[in-house]
Amino acid sequence: MIKRPKLSGTGKERKTNASGLTRGAKFRVKNARGRKISSVRWLQRQLNDPYVDAARLDGYRARSAYKLLELDEKFSFLKKSRVIVDLGAAPGSWAQVALKLCGRKARVVGIDLLEVAPLEGATFLEMDFATDEAEAALLDLCQGPVDLVMSDMAAATTGHQQTDHIRTLALVELAFDFARKTLGEGGVFVTKVFRGGADQAMLAEIRKCFASVRHFKPPASRSGSAETYLVAKGFKVSSRHLEKESD
Ligand SMILES: C[S@@+](CC[C@H](N)C(=O)[O-])C[C@H]1O[C@@H](n2cnc3c(N)ncnc32)[C@H](O)[C@@H]1O
Repeated sequence: MIKRPKLSGTGKERKTNASGLTRGAKFRVKNARGRKISSVRWLQRQLNDPYVDAARLDGYRARSAYKLLELDEKFSFLKKSRVIVDLGAAPGSWAQVALKLCGRKARVVGIDLLEVAPLEGATFLEMDFATDEAEAALLDLCQGPVDLVMSDMAAATTGHQQTDHIRTLALVELAFDFARKTLGEGGVFVTKVFRGGADQAMLAEIRKCFASVRHFKPPASRSGSAETYLVAKGFKVSSRHLEKESD
């Protein structure tokens, strides 16, 4: 069982006003004057978020650590993993969770557009995963079959819903492609997807390659966020040939 942060209050008192600011919240941003509404809203949400508190106390670099912990609590895939690829790794909280739960024998190979501070047991590349060079560099570091490919990549949002949806789908497709090339028999693929889950054609492809495919929104994922996660377990190495046939 993971330690789940306590959510205080009944929920009724945490109403949001027209500016999106939370009434009745435990902490208010006192020096809000001169700040943009969006940044006040972000600060207030951070100050009142029990997962932010818990991450600080547990030594995780980000609250998103609890999303992976909750995904693992439901689908148990971390303990058995030895070689783990972490796509969109910054600031490194998923890598921290993976190394903590998988033990000393595990190795994490991560990539992000941003620099990730060093972590014992992990190697991070500061590169764009969408480039051929990044894929080659990752393959080089993995040195053999991978047990778990996890992607928490999120493209910077433009505010244009359709554009954001397409950019996210492109990242999921790239991550799936990489998982299909690198996973060993029985391997696991975990990826962030957005509302509505993966695109139907891609979902059909994913189903062909794995024994089970499920969508799940962990409690640590904010209810207002469109993100959810796809967990595909039991990779079938023989499905790599399906890709070649349809090429
Ligand atoms: C939500 S954060 C990941 C948080 C991370 N799982 C953690 O717990 O610390 C999403 C990350 O995806 C990265 N990202 C987005 N597009 C990327 C790309 N094309 N290549 C590499 N990283 C990318 C972003 O830079 C960002 O750091």
